[in-house]
Amino acid sequence: MSTERMNILYNKKPCYDIVFSQDFQDLLPELDTLAISDRKVCIVADSKVNNLYGEEVSGLLSSKAKECKVFTFEEGESSKTLDTVKALYTFLIEHHFDRNDLLVALGGGVTGDLTGYAAATYLRGIDFIQIPTTLLAQADSSIGGKTGVDFDGYKNMVGAFYMPKLVYMNVSTLQTLEGRQFFSGFAEIMKHGLIKDSEFYVWLIENMYEICERQPAVLQEMVMKSCAIKKAVVEKDPTEKGDRALLNFGHTIGHAIEKALGFEMFHGECVAVGSVAAAYISWKKGYLPMEEYYEVRDMFVPFYLPISVEGIDPKEILQLTKSDKKVKGDHIKFVLIKHIGKAFIDETVTDEEILAAIEEIYFSEEDQHE
Ligand code: GLY
Repeated sequence: MSTERMNILYNKKPCYDIVFSQDFQDLLPELDTLAISDRKVCIVADSKVNNLYGEEVSGLLSSKAKECKVFTFEEGESSKTLDTVKALYTFLIEHHFDRNDLLVALGGGVTGDLTGYAAATYLRGIDFIQIPTTLLAQADSSIGGKTGVDFDGYKNMVGAFYMPKLVYMNVSTLQTLEGRQFFSGFAEIMKHGLIKDSEFYVWLIENMYEICERQPAVLQEMVMKSCAIKKAVVEKDPTEKGDRALLNFGHTIGHAIEKALGFEMFHGECVAVGSVAAAYISWKKGYLPMEEYYEVRDMFVPFYLPISVEGIDPKEILQLTKSDKKVKGDHIKFVLIKHIGKAFIDETVTDEEILAAIEEIYFSEEDQHE
């Protein structure tokens, strides 16, 4: 498999490359392009990713940069806070990082988002690169310049659009992911097919076994195809004034469930359940044919993703849905689908329709006893 690349435009101008590889070695020529010989770099990673890849990546960076430091934090969504960003600022100040220096986000979505936010704000902005190591980060969060942290339990409430200088994907890192985490990332890939590209959706179903077995060539092709869809969306609407909001398919109810369950379920698992709910609303409002609703619902199952959820209070989920930041005035900007591959924004979804969708995905104790 050869190393491949894709350039992302920002405001219609070439901005940064995404490099797809099967190891970390091809990072070396990229570092030459970034001209880091007189710059300090700081790798930001959670302790788990640092144990897996920190030594190899810091070895490569040290061979090219003036100096290489590593900042680690505890793994998990609970670290995606201003407190972690503050600890990173302190670390950078103590190690005399200046505006010429560079941050390297090594890890999943939490790492990329919080490192990007620190890069956007430290000294009013320093360069950063993304080395995503999870499927969620490779397929979605490392592309498009969204950075930020959660605040007071609300997802991504504080942040900035800030573009990386490079996104380097070593797709072989997907082999070390725990199953739940791998498939959680897959939910965002499925989402790209559902909202924009029915051919890609069909390709995913046709390659189901290869994907579940994590065959390297198929994974690289899958990540590249998924990135091509995201590229088209973020290039057209980089700061989410319009079409980029389609990427929030499944996220309105998904985020509410994520918060209600205290981040016990993985993000992609919540997106899968939220996508089923959004497809249900699409059907009930007469946009999506019934058979396509059942198709969407059932196709998450072979990828080990949930289509229902226990232990929630549907009314609480409705309230949380309305406090999500995608609410515009009193209206929720709901992403619905007309058919597989064609999403649109609807501002007419009522509380009753949302509640009915939450009831549809709610697996209660009563259901258990039936
Ligand atoms: N993850 C959604 C977006 O990048 O807009």
